Amino acid sequence: MGEPRRVVPGAAPETRAPQPSVAASGLHARHSRGFETQGLQAAAPAAFFLRFVPEQARETARGPPRRGTCDLTDVPAFDASFRETLAELFAWRRDVRRFRPEPIAESDLRACLDLAHRSPSVGNSQPWRFVRVSDAARRAAVVASFERCNRAAASAYADERAALYRTLKLAGLREAPVHLAVFCDEATGTGHGLGRATMPEMLRYSVVGAVQGFWLAARSFGIGVGWVSILDPDCVSRSLDVPTSWHLVAYLCVGYPVEEHLDPELVRHGWQGPDLEACCLFER
Ligand SMILES: Cc1cc2nc3c(=O)[nH]c(=O)nc-3n(C[C@H](O)[C@H](O)[C@H](O)COP(=O)(O)O)c2cc1C
Repeated sequence: MGEPRRVVPGAAPETRAPQPSVAASGLHARHSRGFETQGLQAAAPAAFFLRFVPEQARETARGPPRRGTCDLTDVPAFDASFRETLAELFAWRRDVRRFRPEPIAESDLRACLDLAHRSPSVGNSQPWRFVRVSDAARRAAVVASFERCNRAAASAYADERAALYRTLKLAGLREAPVHLAVFCDEATGTGHGLGRATMPEMLRYSVVGAVQGFWLAARSFGIGVGWVSILDPDCVSRSLDVPTSWHLVAYLCVGYPVEEHLDPELVRHGWQGPDLEACCLFER
């Protein structure tokens, strides 16, 4: 196992003095959950980073880093036709639970991650950590967590609503070719804490923004995404053996959808109607 290497967009790969390496079976040795963030970067096995850092995608999509004022001729014109297409992208983005089994192209996945990495974040902290979950035992642990949590959630409803709940398909974990767990690195030093002294939750909200970016980017490739929150986050974090400073924000099922819809599944299956207040702009 080589030395861990962090790739910073627009910068030469970091070189570092040799560090003690962790004996790695799977992603991390069990004790790795005790690492501080900086320690993790020094000691985690290289595969932990390199498997999902889209190094080449970043280099090719972003081009050389630009600094200072742009030449205005570089700024693209987002015209009406682009806006129409963008509106279609938003309209057709659905939460998908039914996936075709075929794998998605690695380059498409990397391109979606690269776009997600351009998301805004508090103090430019970029606290998102995307983890692809390919290991069968880890996936099975997540499926088991979903089934336990879903049974508990169903039992919290009564009568007809409980019966209706049980008919809903609320995850495509077994079918989705790709699982992505998205964490917030609560110990990140990037951004030096700027912007979150009074509202620390902004760090997690920044990760939600990146998830949304990924979701829309994926749809533009014809790839469906389903967000699964009916999970025990501690159980998922333990099963994936990630650092203790990483807080689970989203667990995503990713793959090509079996079917396409313009309306949300929960509306289509009678769980709810529209919320008109959500469409309002309130004025003060
Ligand atoms: C934070 C969050 C958590 C979600 N968790 C689940 C989930 O556990 N299971 C599920 O079926 N859908 C989940 N969804 C998807 C929503 O049900 C879906 O976005 C909503 O019904 C609107 O449908 P649409 O995304 O197709 O527009 C989640 C969405 C968000 C944003």
